[in-house]
Amino acid sequence: MKKTLIRGGTLAETGKKADILIGIDGMIEHIKLGADHKEANVIDASGKLLFPLLIDCHVHFREPGLEHKATMETEAASAIAGGIGLVCEMPNTIPPTVTVAALADKVRRSAKVDQCDIRFYFGVTEAAHLRTLKDIWTGEAMELKRLKHHCCGVKLYLDHSTGDQKVDGGIVEEIFQTCADLKIPLIAHCEDSEMNAAAKAANTRTDIAAHSAMRPAESEEKSVREAVAMAKKTGAALHIAHLSTAKGLAVVRAAKKEGLPITCEVSPHHLFLTIDDYAALGTLGKMNPPLRTKDDAAALWAGIKDGTVDCVATDHAPHTLEEKKTGEPLSAPSGVPGVETMLPLLLTEAAAQKISYADILKLCFTHPNKIFNLGAHNLEEKKLARLVIVDPETEWMIEGKNLKSKCGWTPFEGRKVTGKVMQVIAH
Ligand code: DOR
Ligand code: ZN
Repeated sequence: MKKTLIRGGTLAETGKKADILIGIDGMIEHIKLGADHKEANVIDASGKLLFPLLIDCHVHFREPGLEHKATMETEAASAIAGGIGLVCEMPNTIPPTVTVAALADKVRRSAKVDQCDIRFYFGVTEAAHLRTLKDIWTGEAMELKRLKHHCCGVKLYLDHSTGDQKVDGGIVEEIFQTCADLKIPLIAHCEDSEMNAAAKAANTRTDIAAHSAMRPAESEEKSVREAVAMAKKTGAALHIAHLSTAKGLAVVRAAKKEGLPITCEVSPHHLFLTIDDYAALGTLGKMNPPLRTKDDAAALWAGIKDGTVDCVATDHAPHTLEEKKTGEPLSAPSGVPGVETMLPLLLTEAAAQKISYADILKLCFTHPNKIFNLGAHNLEEKKLARLVIVDPETEWMIEGKNLKSKCGWTPFEGRKVTGKVMQVIAH
């Protein structure tokens, strides 16, 4: 075994060059220019960018119960290929992650996964789940403490989506209060079920673009407003999942101005795709919340610019091509994969100087790490080396057949991007 020297790379955070020496135990020994080590394997990183392995705080890896769509192993490989080394996984599996046994089972399965650290959200749809969550968070038993370490927070669905995990409205306040009291990170999928139901009832179209009309922007806005009000009432820190509209974003911006502990994420598909893409994508552009207008996407980018948006998270939600393409378009399952394409898409924006590489680090590492108390380390001496070497200039084309996700397709098929993951070091 030899040490490894990554020579001449540029730290994405500061734009400064550094050599990184990694010991045989995988620990970073030092980060400084001019570090030489005669017996080390040298990786020439000149002209390359160095990021810590990134974090995606919103994925669906489908295991257990939906392994025909994806497994932890396949999707972790996809994440790693996309420069992501820590993911927070959603509870809408079969069984859902709403019991100690289900959480323990996921933790056991994830231990077999190489390189990618998988944390799990606990789902709460009824009072019994909330009691279990309290046990996990406060229990003295070693086993509960161990499970808590792998649990990144609570997921709340305020409307139905894949897996029908909608919360019983009567316990929403108690969930918020519990999260406030016990300091449990709380992430909410905000769509208003009554407004969605009314829009669905009023719909007469059968084309796929009707999916967006059936889940209107006002539904997200109303739900975000209510969730923010509940956070204010209870003192809970609330993270809004996959914010997709200008209207929803405006509510978050106002809440932040008021000083409330509200954070939010946006997903690459809402940044890079709009309702105009239905024509080309068909049901491959169906997800919840749905594709929105160009103005909405522009508002999300503005939210990134002014700091209202804290994180970019993929909502990676693979379904098989067959499931996506069989039957009535509006009955196709919602969800698109994304863990392998997020970084290249963002790098492309950075290459065009619309955002900075340091912005990518904040959106996909620093902020999610803090919001969900994940304890991941940036590139630091005396910490395990977990980093991604990126060539910011390589141009390439995204093709589903080359991606590692089990589903084998992407809504970004054929898109030209600038910036490529060259190597991942994941001790
Ligand atoms: O598009 C979506 N797909 N939105 C969700 O809320 C769930 C997800 C899934 O699990 O397929
Ligand atoms: Zn999701």
